[in-house]
Amino acid sequence: MNKALDPALMQAAEAIGSHVGTPDLGAYWMPFTANRQFKQAPRLLARASGMHYWDTQGREVLDGVAGLWCVNAGHNRPRITAAIQQQAAEMDFAPPFQMGHPKAFELASRIVQIAPAGMGKVFFANSGSEAVDTALKMALAYHRVRGEGTRTRLLGRDRGYHGVNFGGISVGGMVGNRKHFGLAVAGVDHLRHTHDPARNAYSNGQPAHGAEFADDLEKLVAMHDASNIAAVIVEPIAGSTGVLVPPIGYLQKLRELCTKHGILLIFDEVITGFGRTGAPFAAQTFGVTPDLITCAKGLTNGAVPMGAVIARDEIYETFMQGPEHMIEFLHGYTYSGHPLACAAGLGTLDTYAEEGLLTRAGPQGDGIAAYFAQGVHSLKGEPHVIDVRNHGLVGGIELQGIAGEPTKRAFSVFLDCWAQGVLIRTTGDTIALSPPLIIERGHVDRIVETIRTALRRAA
Ligand SMILES: Cc1ncc(COP(=O)(O)O)c(C=O)c1O
Repeated sequence: MNKALDPALMQAAEAIGSHVGTPDLGAYWMPFTANRQFKQAPRLLARASGMHYWDTQGREVLDGVAGLWCVNAGHNRPRITAAIQQQAAEMDFAPPFQMGHPKAFELASRIVQIAPAGMGKVFFANSGSEAVDTALKMALAYHRVRGEGTRTRLLGRDRGYHGVNFGGISVGGMVGNRKHFGLAVAGVDHLRHTHDPARNAYSNGQPAHGAEFADDLEKLVAMHDASNIAAVIVEPIAGSTGVLVPPIGYLQKLRELCTKHGILLIFDEVITGFGRTGAPFAAQTFGVTPDLITCAKGLTNGAVPMGAVIARDEIYETFMQGPEHMIEFLHGYTYSGHPLACAAGLGTLDTYAEEGLLTRAGPQGDGIAAYFAQGVHSLKGEPHVIDVRNHGLVGGIELQGIAGEPTKRAFSVFLDCWAQGVLIRTTGDTIALSPPLIIERGHVDRIVETIRTALRRAA
């Protein structure tokens, strides 16, 4: 047992986790998981439908995080399941290099239909991390093809998360994702993050203060010169570092400065894509069109791995030069546009469209986002809560960490919620909520009250 955690809580968790049918847990080295703690008290999911999971004991668990920001339409949706099943029976795999299959083209067209105007090209990858590295390479190659090959510097932002591949961890600003790996892509610099609790604590929606953080780009241009800078990548809402909503005017300012200096603007929409903020993409919610968008997760409702980069037409056209038999962009994955992922993506976009899910969390929705906001903000004043942040169907509840033991308090709240039958997610000492977009008011109440109970008994 991990002695650092509250023994009573661990006992409860172990009681839940120790049940018949648990497989041998030894061989699997789990990702981003406290392996030893987990294997003492496994949390094993067996089944899912709509807003719920069931664990291997048959216990119902309300999903407050759409799996992992993925399952925007809720779990096991029939159209998606049927599309995958049919595709698996029809054609398992098609080589994506110098060959194609109709569903990849169809899915790209369908994504373009909901993307910001002028962003008409889609390149497929298999995850958010791959989408990010694809977009960074696209930016570098784009400038080179245009004859500005000195533009090799990539800019990210403190507290950014862009997946785990070398490009992503380099532009990312999460120290924890870099400190063990030493080697990273050279020639990277970072803007400051926009989190400013002294001025913006408990903002409902976009914080009022902080547009001026975008001026950091001018400073970096003054330091490195624009002729050396290829791209800036930011998450419109940073999720993995604790739900950081962009201050009013910040993204607009970043766009203006990128345009002024010929720098490409990349929005990493791996978590904000597909309805999370009340529009298909956060670019539309915030009224700012980047040059490249990375997405994944909600693209297939999490059912089959897939990522994508959506590019402005002009970027694609720039590559289309030289002899026609030559490959224009030397990049791609064996599983780019995999038939099962494309089928899942088409089933997903159909489901979103039929149920109005891509706009439900916005002003055209039925008020669920406002209800959710009210719910999460009602946690202000509960023990340990030092800030609440939200936008659309994203909520962040920041806790005062235990001195010298970062993450421990939030993790104990996570375990308590799990014991109570609600799945939440914590990052650092912040609880990050991102429920399926089919959530109803009763589910919001249950999530909020479960967290309240856990906070009141957290050490
Ligand atoms: C903004 C952002 N970019 C990239 C990624 C990486 O995606 P994946 O885990 O699919 O590689 C994530 C994952 O949460 C993310 O939140």
